[in-house]
Amino acid sequence: MILRTMTMEWTGDALKLLDQRKLPFFEEYVMCRTHVEVARAIKDMVVRGAPAIGVAAAFGYVLGLREFASGDLQEWMKKVKENLANTRPTAVNLFWALDRMERTLLGNLGKGREEILEILEGEALRMAREDIEVNKAIGRNGAALLKDGWTILTHCNAGALATVDYGTALGVIRAAVESGKRIRVFADETRPYLQGARLTAWELLKDGIDVTVITDNMAGWLMKKGLINAVIVGADRIAMNGDVANKIGTYTVAVLAKKHGIPFFVAAPTSTIDPKIRSGYEIPIEERSQDEVLFCGGNRVVPHGVKVVNPAFDVTEKDLVTAIITEKGVIWPPFEENIRRILEGEPVGIR
Ligand code: MRU
Repeated sequence: MILRTMTMEWTGDALKLLDQRKLPFFEEYVMCRTHVEVARAIKDMVVRGAPAIGVAAAFGYVLGLREFASGDLQEWMKKVKENLANTRPTAVNLFWALDRMERTLLGNLGKGREEILEILEGEALRMAREDIEVNKAIGRNGAALLKDGWTILTHCNAGALATVDYGTALGVIRAAVESGKRIRVFADETRPYLQGARLTAWELLKDGIDVTVITDNMAGWLMKKGLINAVIVGADRIAMNGDVANKIGTYTVAVLAKKHGIPFFVAAPTSTIDPKIRSGYEIPIEERSQDEVLFCGGNRVVPHGVKVVNPAFDVTEKDLVTAIITEKGVIWPPFEENIRRILEGEPVGIR
């Protein structure tokens, strides 16, 4: 059983990941043969983006079971889960995927090792294929909101590279383009890690979608000049009240969109909604290495002796969000009520 997309490949005994640290100039791969190698790849951003790290961790869990030689299987797998979970704290998809793998393991403990291995591999592959289907559904639901001729601003990379394939925010753009709409994209470069300049631009260019990169501080001026019709971003975790954690800078873009009366859409699978988190301020925000701010393109840009901070995500309050586009439908305000309804399987209105 194998899976192969641009972002990842499961070979049956290893996870091959496109090294996103090297894009856009080198297409190189990192081969992970153990769960620790997968954990390192997630921590070091070889693979990044909430759904992609969730699915990578699921395959890491399978590799963890393959490594088991003797002793207490449950104890070993607890450690495997912990190693994979202790990589990046903000995207809930990581924990969602690992919990799902653990539930599958616990439901099959009575079986032999080879059989459990097959079941877990099947579950990880199912998760990966579901991710693509879910993104296509997000795309269909979201494309209906975009008008022919619109220019969309996006932040960070919520594309094929951030998922198993197709993307969430970029999935909406892809689906609109596939349906014949003429869509242009402005991609925020997304300092400090440059996911917009390096990754979003790379994958949209590959797809022949009209993309223009801007530095993060240009968004407000372009909005003021009437050059942006809507903003679409992804999410790393959504609280039950509708607050959204996403790449640092998302909050700034949302404030600007509100000021200029521009719709601000969040595109994410329902697995990004954390039922345990009531408001965005409970979401753990990852603080990354200062070097990401101190250096740009390998060159130091800050004088020695100056302090920097590097929060990797921020929280956009629900009042700044126009709608949340999911695979189950578009969630409109009041978010508190409609998020609960969508999670309970009730249909939510598509306007
Ligand atoms: O630090 P990253 O690159 O993993 O951050 C990614 C984002 O913030 C994405 O917008 C989010 O994970 C959604 S991806 C579909």
